[in-house]
Parts: sequence; structure tokens; C-alpha cells
Amino acid sequence: MKIAIIGAAGETGTWLIEHALERGHDIIAIARSPEKIVSNESRVTKRRGDGFDRQSIIDGLEGADAVITSVGKKNLRDKRYYLNTATHENVLAGMRQHSIKRLVPISSIGAAKLPRKGIRRNIYLFLRRKYYGDMNDMETQVLDSDMDVTVVRAPFLHNSNARNAYETIEGNVLPNGRKVSRADLSNFVLDVIEKDMHMQKIVSIADPDSA
Ligand SMILES: NC(=O)c1ccc[n+]([C@@H]2O[C@H](COP(=O)([O-])OP(=O)(O)OC[C@H]3O[C@@H](n4cnc5c(N)ncnc54)[C@H](OP(=O)(O)O)[C@@H]3O)[C@@H](O)[C@H]2O)c1
Repeated sequence: MKIAIIGAAGETGTWLIEHALERGHDIIAIARSPEKIVSNESRVTKRRGDGFDRQSIIDGLEGADAVITSVGKKNLRDKRYYLNTATHENVLAGMRQHSIKRLVPISSIGAAKLPRKGIRRNIYLFLRRKYYGDMNDMETQVLDSDMDVTVVRAPFLHNSNARNAYETIEGNVLPNGRKVSRADLSNFVLDVIEKDMHMQKIVSIADPDSA
């Protein structure tokens, strides 16, 4: 399969590329700065694409069989909290143009708009409320589209190796486990695409031993 990854220079993007290559896929790696994409494998085609720049996303998706989005912003001073809806509007346009049907966006458990335990956690969610509100809107936007969509909600991510001990749940947030490794997340996302799992669903992932 030829899988387009948007946010390919990011940390999860890097794990996704590595694992997708191991599984025999070809990659279209799309990033704002393609020179930051770590892999130099010949099966990785690097393209410049900014979620806010419609034409770059449309052009970037040409030739893909499926799309994964792993787009996020860490900088709280960046006021473009609408990153996810803007990006996915352009992704959906690109998918229609190139007749691509399968889309797996990586979202966040923050999009579930549930109160969480711990005052620090709730202050963090409050400060990022517009950003998570936009993610929630993005989930509706893609699920209401004409595409074959699975939204994967991630908890706090870290860079340990895969443990293959994660749990998933459809339509909710897992009660145990507030973290998962990017390695496990990327393996799960690739399973979802390869096996057509959780079609038209939101699915959350967490490692139960990481609470
Ligand atoms: N980190 C967490 O704990 C956490 C928790 C829950 C959910 N998530 C979600 O999981 C996914 C991966 O997270 P991560 O921490 O591994 O990500 P990351 O390393 O921060 O990578 C995110 C990528 O998004 C890219 N990006 C930002 N704005 C963009 C734009 N306008 N157009 C195109 N690309 C853009 C960034 O590109 P640049 O390299 O150019 O900045 C970056 O490479 C994201 O969807 C995130 O929202 C993360």
C-alpha cells in the first residue's frame, strides 16, 4: 500500500514511517519542512505540505491509497487553534480529487471534552480548550464526510519502545492508562489501516500500566 502521512517530520510521524516501511508499505511523507523527515529510504517520497495551504495538501496526496494525519502544535502562543479543522478540510479535498477513501486522523483524548482527574490536568485542558474544541470539531467533520474514516484518540505520548500491551475502546476514553508509546500508537494505526478495523468509529488507545 502507498500511505500518505501528514506531519511526517513529527515524532509519531517518524515512528509511523519506520513501522510502515518494516511492514512493506511505500510512504508519501508530507511535512512543512520535508528536510526534517528522518528517513532516507528510497520507498519514502518526501513532499512539502502545510495543513493551512490547500494546494500543497492536494498535490501532496497524489498517488496515495490511504492517509494518516499526525498533525499537532506544541506552541501555546500559536493562536491558530483551528489547525485540525483547516488541515482536514484540505485533506478531504485532496482525497476527493485523487479518489482516496481511507483516512485515519490521530486525535487526542482531550477532544472527548471529559473532566479528568487532577487539578493540573484540568488547568492544561482549560488552557487548550479551543485547540481541543477544534479537534472535536475535526472528528465530526471527518466522520460526516464521504470517506472511510477511523479517528484514533491518543493519550499522553512518549518515546519508549513498543510494549504491545495497549488497550483500545470504541467511542469512549479508557478508564485506566493515561499514556501510550508512539511506537505502540503507530503500530495500532497501521493495523487499523491494513485490517480495515473500527470503520466510521472513534477509538481510544492507552497502555493500562501507564496510569
Ligand atoms: N504529544 C502528545 O502527548 C499527544 C497527546 C494526544 C494526542 N496527540 C496527537 O498525536 C499526534 C502526534 O503527536 P506528536 O506529539 O508525536 O506530534 P509532533 O511530534 O508534535 O508532530 C506534529 C507534527 O505536526 C506538524 N504540523 C504542525 N502544524 C502543521 C501544519 N500547519 N501543517 C502541517 N504539519 C503541521 C508539525 O510540523 P513541524 O515539524 O513543521 O512543526 C509536527 O511535525 C498529533 O496529532 C497530536 O495532536 C499528541
